[in-house]
Amino acid sequence: MSTPTRADGRIENLTADEARGKIIYTTGRGAAGRLLYFRLLTAGERALPASGIFCANCHGADGKGGREGNIVMADITDGTLTRPLPASPPWNKARAAYTDALLARAITQGLDSSGQQLDSSMPRWVLSESELQDLLKYLKRLGSR
Ligand code: HEC
Repeated sequence: MSTPTRADGRIENLTADEARGKIIYTTGRGAAGRLLYFRLLTAGERALPASGIFCANCHGADGKGGREGNIVMADITDGTLTRPLPASPPWNKARAAYTDALLARAITQGLDSSGQQLDSSMPRWVLSESELQDLLKYLKRLGSR
């Protein structure tokens, strides 16, 4: 959090909540540097440490996502999450617009806004309520302002 700039170099003025959310997004660490955990659909109930794994790895610092082999890392910029998507490439399944509650469910349970399982490569995150709220606030900054 030393330089208040975005991936595109523009100045970023974050609130304290958003700044904590950004740390989660860009480092996989929560309050007081706590290493976060997640579950994988393919690895059962055991929570795995998010060492070196965090949102920006897959969704990009700007949230725009991208493609790796056959896996499409979703565009999770605010403008995209808050509108419904049709079933068109690169997405093969339609989904509803996300609300905060649906976003929280996607992040922690791996279900999209229409209740469909997200791809197993998307981790199911174990977050405290305050970490989740901070992260949701930061997600709203992705792709905007
Ligand atoms: C290892 C790569 C990876 C990491 C790390 C990751 N994601 Fe994802 N995420 C994905 C993939 C791949 C998808 C698309 C899943 C699908 O196709 O069903 C996805 C989907 C999503 C979606 C649903 C998008 C939609 O349109 O339905 C949200 C929201 C999301 N991720 C948020 C996050 C957040 C927040 C974090 C960090 C706490 C995170 N992801 C970390 C790979 C990742």
